[in-house]
Amino acid sequence: MNSSVQPDGTAGKRPDRVAAVRRRLAKHGPPRKPDGGPDFATVTLPERDCDQVRDLLVKERVGTVVEIGLAYASSALAISEALLRTGSRNPRHVVIDPFQYTAYDGVGWELLRSAGLDDIAELVTEPSQRFLARLADAGFSADAAFVDGSHHFHNVFVDLHFLGEIVRPGGIVLLDDVWWPSVSAAVAYFETNLGWRPIPGAPADGTTDPAGSRPRTGAYRLPDPRPTPDFKEFRPFC
Ligand SMILES: C[S@@+](CC[C@H](N)C(=O)[O-])C[C@H]1O[C@@H](n2cnc3c(N)ncnc32)[C@H](O)[C@@H]1O
Repeated sequence: MNSSVQPDGTAGKRPDRVAAVRRRLAKHGPPRKPDGGPDFATVTLPERDCDQVRDLLVKERVGTVVEIGLAYASSALAISEALLRTGSRNPRHVVIDPFQYTAYDGVGWELLRSAGLDDIAELVTEPSQRFLARLADAGFSADAAFVDGSHHFHNVFVDLHFLGEIVRPGGIVLLDDVWWPSVSAAVAYFETNLGWRPIPGAPADGTTDPAGSRPRTGAYRLPDPRPTPDFKEFRPFC
């Protein structure tokens, strides 16, 4: 069942169930910590930022979202909650993480399943830089993407390149950790050369760096139509 309308006709129970799993995760952490697994507080997107991501995706009325970096599923739960709240007829959430079983022992995916999301979410356990190329080749189209995988400049750049083909013109790309130079430099290319535009007021009330000057997450709208840039007009971006 894909919408938030239940067999008994009540709306909203499914997203509320996801929200409850999300709240429990934010309050108590994951139900189990894999041996030597990454620290929850360090890797997870804070609840406040998850709320911002959810609210923006609901506002955009997304139906299909590609996410990079599952970890313990904080952002994934927020994204799935948004997909259910929009009431889309065929919500789809493609989640990519090559280390979900090797580093996280499947805990993030178990949390998505425990929230009843395995009919809308699908997990791909290979590096996004490889999988996205195939997804683009297959002509897959998404309304939005959330990027929180590898933070190496070259990997973020490749992710954004393929997401520029996958996310529909006028769709949006959200990124965590734009306060890191490796991430902000990658997105700067797309902003400077390919017409990606920061969405005004988004995130409205997310986490900032300790100095309070730089927001943690970024949100960009892709141009419509897709640009066909001329290499002679390349603009240095860093
Ligand atoms: C900071 S964590 C993501 C946190 C998650 N967004 C949350 O809110 O809990 C980064 C994740 O990216 C994954 N990752 C690392 N390299 C990746 C790659 N090349 N492709 C996709 N995911 C990758 C890691 O396994 C890890 O789960």
